[in-house]
Amino acid sequence: MPNPDALLYARHIEHRREEIDSILAELGYDGLLIHSGRPENRLFDDSHPPFRAHGPFVALVPQPFAADSLLEIRPGRRPTLWFCQPDDFWHMPPKAPADWLADPLDIEIVSSPEQWHERFGRQRALAVIGDERALGELLDGADLNPPELMWRLDEIRTRKTAFERDCIEHANRLAVKGHMAAARTFREGGSELEIHLAYLAATGLDQDMLPYNNIVALNDHAAVLHYQFRAPERPKSPRSFLIDAGADWRGYAADITRTWTLDEHREFGALIEAMDEAQRRLVDQVRPGRSFVDLHRQAHLAVAAVLEQAGIVDMPPDEQVDSGVSAHFLPHGLGHFIGAQVHDVAGLRDKSGQDLPAPESYPALRLTRKLEAGNVVTVEPGLYFIDTFLEKLKAGEHADRVDWQSVDRLAPFGGIRIEDNVLVSESEPVNFTRQAFAEAG
Ligand code: GLY
Ligand code: MN
Ligand code: MN
Repeated sequence: MPNPDALLYARHIEHRREEIDSILAELGYDGLLIHSGRPENRLFDDSHPPFRAHGPFVALVPQPFAADSLLEIRPGRRPTLWFCQPDDFWHMPPKAPADWLADPLDIEIVSSPEQWHERFGRQRALAVIGDERALGELLDGADLNPPELMWRLDEIRTRKTAFERDCIEHANRLAVKGHMAAARTFREGGSELEIHLAYLAATGLDQDMLPYNNIVALNDHAAVLHYQFRAPERPKSPRSFLIDAGADWRGYAADITRTWTLDEHREFGALIEAMDEAQRRLVDQVRPGRSFVDLHRQAHLAVAAVLEQAGIVDMPPDEQVDSGVSAHFLPHGLGHFIGAQVHDVAGLRDKSGQDLPAPESYPALRLTRKLEAGNVVTVEPGLYFIDTFLEKLKAGEHADRVDWQSVDRLAPFGGIRIEDNVLVSESEPVNFTRQAFAEAG
């Protein structure tokens, strides 16, 4: 039986080659070289942060940890992967790519980047993608990251191939295993660090293989949008738990958030349920032709309705949104593209490369386009009790519309975010995350 990965990957490359060949012809390039990147030591140090290959490389070569490799694309020819396996007794050289990668690519193993440097130096009409510091004289006569090429390559990545959809779906299944273990460890009274370690063990992924740093936030830490610590002490009284944690499959990301509480905390539990319901209704609107800016406004209306129904804000939802009250509780965007990069490319440009900046009223929005079939987006509404925003609200003209006793009762729970990864399709939206939770039981 043919390897299904091989088939999907071969079709992925075939499809992207057609698109890239026509972009290169349009811009007059004879070829394109995409570097995977090189680890950079910290200043005055000989160690470096965990390495991850550049997004444009991973979007064609599912080898996110392959440093100093180069993909060569020439119109009408099979691409060549110059795969670097350094001759280095200090480190374990990376394994050669699996056979199925070699179906649509020619793979040449080199033992140092100098070997591809020598080959490509001083060629004309080449475009090169990468970091100037790692490419040196390779750039003589070549164009580095030319914007006209970059936005076109970013644009094609917004419509995921079957291979990419499969990878994101698989990454979701993996992440959901971690989320279930994390929820169990929370219920058992575990610390943030213990929960994080349970997550890693259940996914089988080491910290450095995650697509982003897990956010593991107990109690009021859930009010810090990108809470970056993992406290080793068990909480004296666990109340709430927000986990924003993903997984990587062949370089593609899952980006999932869940919020949990314990049975005795009925008021916060009801708020989580209301947010969950609101999130499902938003996911249902993830359809071709839909403006994501409009969907973001719908998210504000939905969160405002939750605030009104819970008796936290006494103001109709549209008034809360127009007056900016809802933004005090939801200060981030509804979502973003996801793929070979967690915050995937081209969210703030239209199909012809024109900027589509976030509107002034929603500066944190990372996706402002109309949705198309093949897009994969996150849908992640939130409702938080963040001190700085609450102080502003209290000092402002709408302070008397807020039930501050409710706020004081709920603030120790931090906040709520629920985040799924959703494929836009011609028929119903495909929610990879909920599917994975349903399969896992
Ligand atoms: N995990 C980062 C985000 O949700 O965008
Ligand atoms: Mn996200
Ligand atoms: Mn997230």
